[in-house]
Amino acid sequence: MPGPRVLLVVTGSIAAYKACEVVRRLQDRGVEVRVAMTRNAGEFVSPLTFAALSGHRVLVSSFDDERPERIPHVRWAEESDAFCVVPASADFIAKMALGIADDFSSTLHLAFAGPVLVAPAMEDQMWRHPAVRENVDKLSARGVVIVQPTAGPLASGRHGLGRLAEPPDVVDAIMEVLVTEPIERSLAGMRVLVSAGPTHEHFDPVRVLTNPSTGKMGYAVARAAARLGADVILVSGPTQIVEPAGVEIVRVVNAEEMRREMVDHTAAADIVVMAAAVSDFRPVAPVSEKLQKSAADAMSWEVERTPDILEELRRLGGRRTLVGFAAETSDLEARAREKLDRKGCDLMVANLVEAGVTGFEVDTNEVVILDRLGGRVPAGPAPKSDIAFTIIDAILGFRQRLGVASREKAG
Ligand code: C5P
Repeated sequence: MPGPRVLLVVTGSIAAYKACEVVRRLQDRGVEVRVAMTRNAGEFVSPLTFAALSGHRVLVSSFDDERPERIPHVRWAEESDAFCVVPASADFIAKMALGIADDFSSTLHLAFAGPVLVAPAMEDQMWRHPAVRENVDKLSARGVVIVQPTAGPLASGRHGLGRLAEPPDVVDAIMEVLVTEPIERSLAGMRVLVSAGPTHEHFDPVRVLTNPSTGKMGYAVARAAARLGADVILVSGPTQIVEPAGVEIVRVVNAEEMRREMVDHTAAADIVVMAAAVSDFRPVAPVSEKLQKSAADAMSWEVERTPDILEELRRLGGRRTLVGFAAETSDLEARAREKLDRKGCDLMVANLVEAGVTGFEVDTNEVVILDRLGGRVPAGPAPKSDIAFTIIDAILGFRQRLGVASREKAG
């Protein structure tokens, strides 16, 4: 069966080169990509690059097509399943909002009737400009999926909000747009609480104790739960990744703040997933002024254990399903099983951490989902977005078996 087909419009932005990686990654996921570019985009990356990557002719003008017997924008629009603009400049977003069609890409937009996605990239003051805000709101109201830009260094060298979302995040968002079969809302009416990301334990205002977690796995679980119809609260440590749509985000910095938020929101939750990589230690006596480097070559700090949030949530009791993560570099299942028993949770997602391959800082993961009834579901290697759905399936499977087991006991 042929894979889904995406029309990728590349507009003029320094981030245009990142669209090359988006094309490659979409192809890795079985998607056929056709690229159209604005004239300005061609100043950043040559159409030839995208032609070589996509294996298709790249159109900039409606008059470039070699097959004039059919109007190209109509043909391309008919032959595609999604229209995605990556990166989207402020100018192109404005044209989309107004329905201006003065080049091939903007004409294609009007000729296309299916799902549309826009991944903006621009300087932060442009992104904050009321004209851009209004245009983006207009597109959102029309059902266009906006892949929110992230904060970081911009083309100008300044720091701010406006960087194109990272290619793997853009690809995940496009893959979601492409899912056309109605998805079963298996979590409708349920409340899901997820923690994600690292925590930052400050020594002083500029120095922290932390770990390399990006938050991607927890964000993927939150996004999947929202898509399956749950009310989702995501308690997030410091991260730089795209916020999932339709999820309430509570931002925290350190383990103590995460503990407080998780405890506050647990009572109302049916399912709690502790995907955060909480720092195990924190400085005993953080200071509020920047510490000056002393002349000494070495320094020592007293650190103490952070509160174990998962154990505290378990002590709160209740019938909710409690899910933990165990990141290990060896003896994966034995250690995870031991942790499942010790922490008293219902499921433990055992996660092999192998630098650059699976676990922290990468987009793929390989896990084994263990539960306290002896269940064992291996998953991956697969994108974290897919693993998230498998984790939720395993949680629902566990809840069903638990219901049956307790009914049998009662009977
Ligand atoms: O003991 P370990 O840190 O490996 O356990 C991992 C699990 O425990 C994860 O689900 C993590 O979110 C949770 N955890 C916690 N509080 C801590 C440390 C870890 O809830 N202080």
